[in-house]
Amino acid sequence: MAKEILLLHGPNLNLLGTREPEVYGKMTLDDINARARKYVEPYKITIWAEQSNHEGALIDVLHIARNRVEGVVFNPGAYTHTSIALRDAISAVKLPVVEVHLSNVHAREEFRHHSYLAPVCLGQISGFGWRSYILGLDALLGHLKLLPEE
Ligand code: DQA
Repeated sequence: MAKEILLLHGPNLNLLGTREPEVYGKMTLDDINARARKYVEPYKITIWAEQSNHEGALIDVLHIARNRVEGVVFNPGAYTHTSIALRDAISAVKLPVVEVHLSNVHAREEFRHHSYLAPVCLGQISGFGWRSYILGLDALLGHLKLLPEE
């Protein structure tokens, strides 16, 4: 069976395309999911994409993912800066997680500089628009040794 990666999107990311396009770009969430699927296709990997505006629902998806996927590329949106519950979920499921952000959170308001999740993730990619997701996938697949040259 094909190996699966969870692409998880947090609050307000369902509005991508119309939400502050000068900050987050013009691509919709469906566009990003399609690009991600295209990127992993040659490696015979499938993408399971989910979005929720609710903290508990994101935690539920991570719990289900525990027995289903190889790893997670996660844009937690504003929960990045607030959620100890999501941090505990990432620690609990013991899946490799790459935290990604469209915008460069470190170049924005001070409250976006801190991530509760980054310390329990493999790493954080921030500031490359939709390509942050592709870079995140590349980092995750490299970590999982699922890239052909490894
Ligand atoms: C974001 C950055 C967060 O600070 C913000 O709350 C978001 C989107 C990003 O992708 O740049 O909702 O995660």
